[in-house]
Amino acid sequence: MDDRSIGGAELVETLAELRLINRLLGAAWPTLEGVHRLWREAGQPAHLSILDVGAGSGDVNRRLLSWATRRNIQLQVTLMDIHPDTCRVAQTYYRGEPRIQVRQGDIFQLAPHQADIVTASLFLHHFPAAQLPAVLQLLLQAARLGVVINDLHRHWLAWAFIWAATRLFSGNRLIRHDAPLSVRRGFHPTDFDRLRERPELACLTYDWRPLFRYLVIIPKISQRTSS
Ligand SMILES: C[S@@+](CC[C@H](N)C(=O)[O-])C[C@H]1O[C@@H](n2cnc3c(N)ncnc32)[C@H](O)[C@@H]1O
Repeated sequence: MDDRSIGGAELVETLAELRLINRLLGAAWPTLEGVHRLWREAGQPAHLSILDVGAGSGDVNRRLLSWATRRNIQLQVTLMDIHPDTCRVAQTYYRGEPRIQVRQGDIFQLAPHQADIVTASLFLHHFPAAQLPAVLQLLLQAARLGVVINDLHRHWLAWAFIWAATRLFSGNRLIRHDAPLSVRRGFHPTDFDRLRERPELACLTYDWRPLFRYLVIIPKISQRTSS
């Protein structure tokens, strides 16, 4: 999915399969947990804005919408993706949902203070390790409360499962190629420990979540109160 020459019907089908995989593997839960934690630590504000970067269809935000409805939170979610066709898919997927806006954009052009919380699901593993501190710094600058990352655990069992499942159940060449590759590019605790050694990322916490996910939270509140 890093190949921007891929678009049209093949991309539409790929995103539909990714939504199915996300649903079957409960991919929305870590993002919801991270957002809930930052919202609670910020004093449970009645208004909340979220910027989801590398959003794809943005399907993991559906749970956030119902969470906000239950708690009477005025939620605004902006889905940002670099690919124009992907943005069109997201627009169609959320047609009639006024709380969702879709914006085509590159995270390397992100301006500061774009939203209360910046989220990134299955996005960070697209970047080489050397680029991660700069990417996280950009996301932190764009957030007022903090950043929530939901990404994959690099583990042979997860790789073997997704390799076999995509060969058995998917005919989509991008899913067959990218899903196991994404696990291989996923994260190990030592990756997060290394990032935490940097002063600007010292607040980073990470937790393993079922089905080989990591929930990473980088709050800004403690940085504000300690300065
Ligand atoms: C694997 S998909 C993840 C989609 C979705 N977040 C999910 O959890 O299913 C990664 C997305 O990041 C987008 N992307 C890649 N580089 C980007 C960049 N520099 N800025 C914004 N989006 C980018 C791709 O177009 C792709 O839709």
